[in-house]
Amino acid sequence: MKKVLSIAGSDPSGGAGIQADIKTISAHRMYAMSVETALTVQNTMGVHEVFGIPADFVKKQLEYVLEDIPPDAVKIGMLFSADTISCIAETLDKFGAKNIVLDPVMLSTSGKRLLDETAESILIKKLFPLSDLVTPNIHEAEKISGIKINSIEDIKKAASLLSKRCKGNVLVKGGHFGECIDVLYFENQFFIFEGKRINNPNTHGTGCTLSSAIACGLAAGKSIPESVMLAKEYVSGAIGAMLDIGKGRGPLDHFWNLK
Ligand SMILES: Nc1ncnc2c1ncn2[C@@H]1O[C@H](COP(=O)(O)OP(=O)(O)OP(=O)(O)O)[C@@H](O)[C@H]1O
Ligand SMILES: [Mg+2]
Repeated sequence: MKKVLSIAGSDPSGGAGIQADIKTISAHRMYAMSVETALTVQNTMGVHEVFGIPADFVKKQLEYVLEDIPPDAVKIGMLFSADTISCIAETLDKFGAKNIVLDPVMLSTSGKRLLDETAESILIKKLFPLSDLVTPNIHEAEKISGIKINSIEDIKKAASLLSKRCKGNVLVKGGHFGECIDVLYFENQFFIFEGKRINNPNTHGTGCTLSSAIACGLAAGKSIPESVMLAKEYVSGAIGAMLDIGKGRGPLDHFWNLK
């Protein structure tokens, strides 16, 4: 059985973060593991509060898991502080973790800032270089690249700039832009994943779900472009299943593919 590790924050309402990752990995019939970086007070209407797990405790969680069960892929989501990010980078490097997908979560869907300036720069300096794929959304791509995004050409420019900071592979997600077109920059080539915007307000956790599904593809030995293609199909199916839970932006149906 392939094993996938999620390093992320918890969402007690079950739609995003660690909970979305575990559901996604399970729906891919893989073995899910999780290292928590933060607890949140959150529901479908937004993130109210964040409690960061102390960095040395995050490090111990990670070391204990890696010593025992080496993962076939790792997905990294919400991180809390510069110290946490440094500990995670050092530990992943020490254990030679492979197939790392980094979702550089900086803002919650509802717009709450999740990383301070220092943490953001440590993320780019220490975790980007270890990551086989980085998956920013439009806002994160704009922030990291400094390019204002108004067109697919702008997305391409931002992706190629960002690629210089990691192992060269970047997926800019288009969920907040027009027809949900995602742009992958892989081995100096662009791959455009044409989406179709699904008319469903319940998109809580799309980013977490996509990056975990990509990690599952890599764990299964698929290439980055194929993993992205399959993950996008999985997320579209999970949005298209039209689950409607909660009073705000509700979660996806992670198990639509098993029905
Ligand atoms: N309404 C939608 N219809 C179809 N696909 C969507 C829709 N919304 C988002 N997606 C897809 O979901 C994936 C995640 O993209 P998105 O831009 O929402 O990430 P994100 O902003 O990081 O998400 P999150 O808000 O969970 O952090 C992408 O493949 C995107 O194209
Ligand atoms: Mg996101």
